[in-house]
Parts: sequence; structure tokens; C-alpha cells
Amino acid sequence: MAQEPKDYSKYFDFSGAKLISEDEQGKRIRLGGREIHLMSEPNTRREKQRGKEQVQVLYDAAIPEELRSLGANRHYMITTYGCQMNEHDTEVMKGMFEQMGYTATEDRREADVILLNTCAIRENAEDKVFGELGHLKTLKTERPELLLGVCGCMSQEESVVGRILQKHAHVDLIFGTHNIHRLPHLLQDALMNKEMVVEVWSKEGDIIENLPKKREGMRAWVNIMYGCDKFCTYCIVPYTRGKERSRRPADVIAEVRELARQGYKEITLLGQNVNAYGKDFEDLDYRFGDLMRDMTAIDIPRVRFTTSHPRDFDDHLIEVLAGQGNLVEHIHLPVQSGSTEILKRMSRKYTRDSYLELVGKIKRAIPNAVLTTDIIVGFPGETEAQFEETMTLVREVGFESAFTFIYSPREGTPAAGMTDDVPTEVKKARLQRLNALMTELARESNDRLQGAVVELLVEGESKNNPDILSGRTRTNKLVHFAGPKSLIGSFVHVKVTEPMTWYIKAELVGSESAAVL
Ligand code: 5AD
Ligand code: SF4
Repeated sequence: MAQEPKDYSKYFDFSGAKLISEDEQGKRIRLGGREIHLMSEPNTRREKQRGKEQVQVLYDAAIPEELRSLGANRHYMITTYGCQMNEHDTEVMKGMFEQMGYTATEDRREADVILLNTCAIRENAEDKVFGELGHLKTLKTERPELLLGVCGCMSQEESVVGRILQKHAHVDLIFGTHNIHRLPHLLQDALMNKEMVVEVWSKEGDIIENLPKKREGMRAWVNIMYGCDKFCTYCIVPYTRGKERSRRPADVIAEVRELARQGYKEITLLGQNVNAYGKDFEDLDYRFGDLMRDMTAIDIPRVRFTTSHPRDFDDHLIEVLAGQGNLVEHIHLPVQSGSTEILKRMSRKYTRDSYLELVGKIKRAIPNAVLTTDIIVGFPGETEAQFEETMTLVREVGFESAFTFIYSPREGTPAAGMTDDVPTEVKKARLQRLNALMTELARESNDRLQGAVVELLVEGESKNNPDILSGRTRTNKLVHFAGPKSLIGSFVHVKVTEPMTWYIKAELVGSESAAVL
């Protein structure tokens, strides 16, 4: 059976809703016994538009004094789904909660506020959230004072908001990706008025600097840009995250310097398409390569970035990365498919050959580069031969790992309207074949490290054995070794003794003079 896009339109029946009032702060309606304050709702048509208006950068994001004790003696909990961008948004929201006096908890029975920071990239991500909303209904019935919120990418979807209003009236707060800085005000509104508060902006707003962030561990994420203008035909991100907006270089550099000062050992520069960084500056000729070059002058041991688009990966960037130093030799370069015809229908704006050419350039400039990727199988109409092209490309490049997905139709995207005659069973079988190949390549790449001495950032105890420590190489490989806990947070050298498929066993060498790969 071919996959049918889910029809959520049935959830959009507002015929039962009663308008209570309407003013410049939105509408108040009554629906199914619940009062709802619709401050603004998502609108897919507006999310598609890309306007010319200048994005402002706002530096004063202080939480008003009167909201700083809102959370006294109260606990919050945030469950995060999806990508690193969402993880980082959660860090910002945690920062705001704590400035409001809230205390974190991992126990939902103790929580006074539970937020679900959601992901819309594939249908199964959404199903998980709706499942969780179902579970939380019981908790909310037991403790009506619990405040339940939904934010993140799903909130930007008209169909999802409609479905929550109709079917999940126990939710108290819905806000989107463009207005997380409004959290304190929205929380207050929901707490004071006991109504469901909905505020989702369809258009991205300004860049807000200086929001608090609660980071954990020794690795930190740093946002360098928001949004995506690529509009790959399968992808919902350009709708949920808005147009590309780059943070000013000085703000990014100041944040990284501060993280270095605080002792962070590794940063990851984040953006939906980091290679487009700076394209939107009208007054500056400064792009991602320039930013990476400026990172090399900062005293932070490792700098990563994610995620890049092959289209904008320019020669200057390759030249800067080739200098290495604190710029690690790991490049995540999503290819999505090895077939030029499929890439065209995905609107990726490169071909199989131009991708391979780029990979060749990278490998010549950075011979020890480790390449990883994202791949979608079963795009509408993908033939067996086209899938085989993906398999041969994967072998040719020699990716060391890959995130692999079965195509999932997203409502409102162009691909969701394409004819899809590929049966689900065939898609599943293709994914299995691709994963088997990736397993083989991952093992081969680890085997090549047998006997080598590598540098690790020691992150902590291994998940399964507290006597063993775990760390990551510059190329992001997971390594386990025996050593004292005092090494956590520092760099060590280890010798690879037993490469496995998804991790490597090693022994501590510890010598600073050892050759480092
Ligand atoms: N279906 C399946 N995978 C998708 N991705 C993005 N949109 C979809 C979709 N509709 C994958 C892409 C992207 C990664 C983050 O998620 O491979 O690079
Ligand atoms: Fe989605 Fe393509 Fe933008 Fe990545 S580059 S977020 S796949 S539209």
C-alpha cells in the first residue's frame, strides 16, 4: 500500500465554537466547555511567504521583575523531541523558567508545568507527541492545577493546533518557535486566567539576543542562524522555522568567547543550513567560512557545526576547515538521495555528480575528514534503480554513519501532493538494505583505527558500566576505556584495542606526546 498523507482537515471544525469577545489581543472563544484565548494562530499560507522586511536584533530580553517570582515553590519539566535546534530551544526555555524562580524536575508527578517541545519532521515524531498528550490527560485529571503546554515545530502547524483545540482540551498553552521569548508572559496569562492560551506567530519575528540559557555538560550548542529558505519539497522546516536570519558575527563570537571562559571544551554551531550563514546581511560581506576562520582564534578546543547543505558549501569554507586546529575534521553533509532525478524532485539543487565532486574536493583538502549524512528512502515514485544509485553513492563516498529515514509526507509540502506508487513494504525493505550497508561501512571505518592513538574528550561514565568511561573523538566516534573518574571533562589519549560497529574499545595511553589522529 502506498502511504497516504494524513488528513487533519476534519479537526478544523470550529462550528461548535462560540465567540466570546474579540479585541487587539485576539479572540476569546468557547469550545467543548473550554475557554480559549486565541492570541494568534498558525497560518500555512503566511509561513510560506518570504518577505523583504529587515530583521531587527533586540538586545533587551530581560524578564520583567514582576514575573521573576512566578515560579517560587513550583517545578517545571520540559520533554524535548527532535533535533539539536529543539534541544537548544529547551535550554533557553529552561533558562527562562529558572529566572522566574521555577525548579527543574524529571518527575512529572512533581511538576507544576509540563512543556512538550515538539518536532514535526516526520509523522512518527508527531504520533509520539499525541501519544504523550493522551497519557498526560490522566495526570491532568488527577491534578487540574497542572499546566500543560505544547511548543516547538508542531505548534506551527495549523492542522496540529486545530486537532489540539478539538481533541485535547486539557492542554493549557500552545506557542510556536518564533515566540519562545514570550514564555513568561504566556505562562502568566495561562495561570491567571485559567483559559487555554494560544499564541503562534506565522511570521518569524526579530532575533532576540541575551535570553538566558541553562546548559549542561561540557559541550555547548550555539545558534548562528534561524530558519531555512531552501524549501526542499519534502521538508516542513521552512514553514515551521521561518525565513533564514543570521545572528550578527559579533554576537556569536562573544557567546563562544564567554563559553570558552566558562570552561566549555566543545561547541557546535547550529543552524538548519549553516552554509547559508550571512547571506541575509545587507551591510556585511561575511559568510560561514569567515565565521569558522574567526572561531580558530578563540581558545576553545573543539568546534563543530550542523547541519550543512551541499549547495552552499563553498571553496573558502573548505580552505578554512583544511586548516583544522580547533575545527574538527567531521563533516555532516546530508545527501538525501544518490539519484539526480530524485534530487531534482526533492528540489535539492545539486546532482549526484556535483555532490561527488564536492566530496572529492573536501577529501583532497582534508584527507582525514570523516563524512556522515542524512538519507531519505522511498521518496514518491523512487524506482529500484534510483534507490540503487543511493546505495552506490553511499559506497563511493564511504560515509562512516548516516541518519536514514523512510519518506514521510508532510501536509502542505509539495512532495505530499506527488503521486507515490511505492508500496510501504518496498520502502521498508530499502531502508533495511541501506542500514545493512551503513552497518558494514561503520564497522570498516572503526576497524581502520585498530591500534591507533586518538584524542578523546571524556564525557562521563559509560551508560552500561560505571567502571568504564566514555568519550568522543574529534570525528565524533564513541570510545569506551577504563580510567579514573577524575578524567571526566578533560582530554586524554587512548589506544584503540577493539573496534566494534557503533563504538570502540580502547585503553588509556595518556601521553601528551603520543601521535594524535
Ligand atoms: N520524511 C523523511 N525524512 C525527512 N527529513 C526531512 N523531512 C523528511 C520527511 N518528510 C530528514 C532529512 C533531513 C533530516 C533532518 O530529516 O533527511 O536531513
Ligand atoms: Fe529542510 Fe532542506 Fe531546509 Fe534542510 S535544507 S531544513 S532538508 S528544507
